[in-house]
Amino acid sequence: MSLHHLIDFNDLTAEEWREINTLAADIKKDPEKYADRCKGKILATLFYEPSTRTMLSFQSAMIRLGGEIIGFDNPGNSSVSKGENLKDTITIISSYADIITMRHPKEGAALAASLYSRCPLINAGDGGHFHPTQTLTDLFTIEQVKGTLSGLTVGLCGDLKNGRTVHSLLRALNTLGKNTFYLISTPSLSLQPRITELLRANGNEVFEVTSLEECMNRLDILYMTRIQRERFDSEEHYKEQSGKFILDTNKMSQAKNDMIVLHPLPRVDEIEEEVDYDQRALYFKQAQNGIYVRMALILKMIGSAPTDETDILKFRDMPKGHCCKNKVCITNTEHYLPFLTYEMRDGHKACKFCDTEID
Ligand code: NCD
Repeated sequence: MSLHHLIDFNDLTAEEWREINTLAADIKKDPEKYADRCKGKILATLFYEPSTRTMLSFQSAMIRLGGEIIGFDNPGNSSVSKGENLKDTITIISSYADIITMRHPKEGAALAASLYSRCPLINAGDGGHFHPTQTLTDLFTIEQVKGTLSGLTVGLCGDLKNGRTVHSLLRALNTLGKNTFYLISTPSLSLQPRITELLRANGNEVFEVTSLEECMNRLDILYMTRIQRERFDSEEHYKEQSGKFILDTNKMSQAKNDMIVLHPLPRVDEIEEEVDYDQRALYFKQAQNGIYVRMALILKMIGSAPTDETDILKFRDMPKGHCCKNKVCITNTEHYLPFLTYEMRDGHKACKFCDTEID
């Protein structure tokens, strides 16, 4: 696989995704076979935001492949607390490790880091933007149970505005199949219109509803998410939006016998504990699958050629100091970044770091 960095799920071709998925299935069947495939290699996990599953499953994946791990889970314990910028941290760590996975609260941080990384870099979540390895986990789980990624009726419920797992999953399903989506949220937490438009433009059916009851009996998959407290500007706004969608056994009784419930976890209050005992609740198995897909991803990416130094040098001469209007975009804090843009389908320009339209 020639992929150097994984920032957005759509950095992968359908074929590359298939290769990772197939490898993950084989690892799940016979993990011993892969026990020393990364002997002598080092994974760095750089987590500027809290994590349980993503960070520990990456670490566990590397250890199960026979490799070693370094990193931090609290930037307060690293030179970041002394004011070191992302570029310098990545320049150094990418010479200490063979592969990096990074989570950061700013949108576009993974792309920014990848510009200066000498080794493959994997986005483990950049603010409310993307989370491609959770999507690999979700797709693997869906395929194992449903045998397809097309023709499904998928409900996504909760914080669709800030939920990076939702954004990455929708972008992936959009390229890998044609499906019907029920977007279940309050108007304030609804999905960005640009993603809804993208889904419709590619022949998916999209319905926006405000309660689980409206679609429960039609769903093949229900993807629950927590309200992303840390992305709100105040506790008051968070409280206004929390506790609105709660999956309980009563709602489960309206669902099909073969509907499955997924959740990237952590759960707060959106799924009642009783639902855990329903055989259709697959979120803990889903989290376990995260190990196999991350093992597969590490194996596929670790061999890719190091970044050409001339690639890094070319950013030196580009105009710097531009800021995106999205306040949580990484360009607002790391001022040395070149302001990269691209043209959207409608001809407007967007910031390449966070996908926000430029006026
Ligand atoms: C998710 C995340 O960090 O975006 N968790 C995860 O990686 N499994 C979901 C969340 O935090 O709500």
